[in-house]
Amino acid sequence: MTPVKYKIIDEIAVIEVSNPPVNAISADVRIGLLDALEVLSLKDDVAAIVITAPERTFLAGADIKEFGKKIDAPSLGQICDKIEKMNKITIASLHGTPLGGGLEVAMSAHYRIAAPKTKVGLPEVLLGILPGAGGTQRLPRLCGVSMALDMMITGKHVPIEEAFENGIIDEIAIDDKTIENGISYAKKIISQGLGRRPTSEITNKIQNKKDIEESISSAKATALKKYKNLFSPHAIIKCVEEGLNLDFDNAIKNERRLFNDCIESPQRQGLIHSFFAERAINKIPELQNGKSLEPKKIGVIGGGTMGTGISMAAMNAGFEVVMIEQNQDAIDKALKKITSTYDRSVRLGRMNSQQQNEIMNLFSGKTDISQLKDRDLVIEAVFENMDVKKEVFIKLNQICNQNCILASNTSYLDINEIAKVVDNPLRVIGLHFFSPANIMKLLEIVVADETSDDTVCTAFNLAKKMKKIPVRSGVCDGFIGNRILSKYLVATYHMVEDGASPFHIDRVLREFGCAMGVFQVIDLAGGDIGWATRKRKAPFRHKDDRYVEIADRVCERGWFGQKTSKGYYLYGEDVAFLTPNPEIEVICSDERKRVGIMPREFSDQEILDRYIAAMVFEGTKILQEKIALRPSDIDVVYTNGYGFPRWRGGPMKYADMIGLDKILDNINKFAKEDPRFWSPPLLLEELVKNNQNFDSLN
Ligand code: 3HC
Ligand code: NAI
Repeated sequence: MTPVKYKIIDEIAVIEVSNPPVNAISADVRIGLLDALEVLSLKDDVAAIVITAPERTFLAGADIKEFGKKIDAPSLGQICDKIEKMNKITIASLHGTPLGGGLEVAMSAHYRIAAPKTKVGLPEVLLGILPGAGGTQRLPRLCGVSMALDMMITGKHVPIEEAFENGIIDEIAIDDKTIENGISYAKKIISQGLGRRPTSEITNKIQNKKDIEESISSAKATALKKYKNLFSPHAIIKCVEEGLNLDFDNAIKNERRLFNDCIESPQRQGLIHSFFAERAINKIPELQNGKSLEPKKIGVIGGGTMGTGISMAAMNAGFEVVMIEQNQDAIDKALKKITSTYDRSVRLGRMNSQQQNEIMNLFSGKTDISQLKDRDLVIEAVFENMDVKKEVFIKLNQICNQNCILASNTSYLDINEIAKVVDNPLRVIGLHFFSPANIMKLLEIVVADETSDDTVCTAFNLAKKMKKIPVRSGVCDGFIGNRILSKYLVATYHMVEDGASPFHIDRVLREFGCAMGVFQVIDLAGGDIGWATRKRKAPFRHKDDRYVEIADRVCERGWFGQKTSKGYYLYGEDVAFLTPNPEIEVICSDERKRVGIMPREFSDQEILDRYIAAMVFEGTKILQEKIALRPSDIDVVYTNGYGFPRWRGGPMKYADMIGLDKILDNINKFAKEDPRFWSPPLLLEELVKNNQNFDSLN
């Protein structure tokens, strides 16, 4: 059945597109639209055509799943061209989120009306491409070059009032009745004697050459500063700049050429993978089987780095929070941190003081844990120590009602062991937030052996309310993210002991696109945290494991990174960003001498190969053990919690793109020197043997 149908009411034809869930413009939609337009163009009794998609939203863009595939159907550009050149008046009646190709269809129509709360945008840049159906040329004609570039480079969704004020939309309707709105607007246009108004012929906003030059050079400066590594923002600017010096038809041809360049780029593959990976995270068995509770009152235990961040994340989502600390001093400190964070938001204009007061009223700090007895959900964020955590959970078991969900924010510890101390382990779960928890989007939801489906559903629901990106993980040391981190940290220290400089390694990773190098991250998180973990694990270390002591030597000097103004780098008001601590090279050199290693040179490529190999190695083991349900979940963890470049899709996608055989070859090569550390995971060998990639497991 065609997803496009039309009806004629009086002299107005209404085209309805129905391609749930978001009316993506698939090949069938394009074929249906073109057929309908062709038939309607021949009807003398039709004066105007209204294009609508009456369900959830007007067309939300091209069907992303079709990119890179050869499909026998008219292109979206052809459809837009047809709409604009129609011999009847064309009107788009919008609601929901007309995005990308959806807005391009709307801009090809001669007039646009939109329901209140509609948001429009050209977010192609977020997928590594550019608007490829005339958007780069029509949007500047409607709203001017400066706003068009801003919309296309950021991909932001623009509220309808702003779109109206700037000429993108002609009228805002009073309700959501998109078909009726379209028809009455068409009648109005006809009654006013208005005719066809092709957007390509509107030129008043692209006349002022000086303004245009300024807008383009400012966009170029922003793109260089913010999107240095990305391909498509620069292609968008080029497309607008070149297009304005061409006639419309040639500008469209130029847009098509640059669009195809984007489609061919590996960044498009990486970013589209990230788009679908972030939607796949919710496809887990527990969400199908369980039912979410609706927690309202939240408890947080511990008011340190994480406790304060988690409290703010909860308050921002409208939850009432009681925080428990060991003494009043600690409460006062936490309160000061929270207040100063919101003060800053007010200073930056992100909220007003009334909103600040309302949020602060949601918070209270107490020293008596029994104050948690009426809570629906409690998140523990005390010291990373099993005995301390167990003691807290024993108390919670006595104080809270048996349905209250008990969550731990532990970074590494065994949630199953924690769950053993409570009578009803069905309600125990790991909620692993990332620092700063009020800002970072990632939330690992750690499902223990006994955790109930309802508890998991509630945790996902909580994540949604807190606007987090939840990823399900099983229980293991460090869950998905920190377990992989531990592996590549060890691989990194092996490289350093063998002769690589920490600063060289960081530079290679930054150039690869990581937000920070490994040693910058250590300095940010605090070297003491890793040190405590290494001490905890020391008794279980095998005598043949290669253990590099460089990090311990750094910590023994009290150099924990930013918090002590000294770590691998130096910090302070007068110190330039990324100034290496000169004493680090001395420590490295002394340690190499102590263990009898003759330092050797590392190329940029070898550093990268070892870093990626270690990540993929541990990622594969995590899949083998079913800690992560699919490779794309690992990618979501890494692109949202660990600064792995999103445009590379995540470590598992990146491995697919460079070839699993190459990764396996590297691992086998490294295993010759250190078989205990590098012996290849079975799953990786099987995938390579069967000529499969990680995507086949998604
Ligand atoms: N193509 C294919 N599938 C799409 C899609 C698209 N453009 N947009 C959304 N979907 C799918 C999602 O994958 C999801 O599928 P699932 O249920 O199987 O997981 C389903 O639609 C619902 O999506 P969301 O969960 O994201 O629903 P929300 O209500 O939260 O958000 C939305 C709706 C704001 C429209 C959001 O989906 C979105 O931002 N979509 C992408 C919009 C976009 O980027 N458009 C431009 C496309 S590129 C283009 O148009 C090129 C042109 O210039 C030539
Ligand atoms: P922190 O040391 O900053 O704060 C811990 C707080 O817990 C202290 O203020 C302490 O007074 C309080 N506390 C200790 N025992 C308590 C008790 N019995 N009752 C009430 N309060 C108590 O530690 P941080 O960094 O906030 O870490 C907390 C937890 O979060 C740890 O399990 C850690 O592994 C985990 N985590 C830490 C991250 C980080 O980047 N710091 C990231 C993700 C998880």
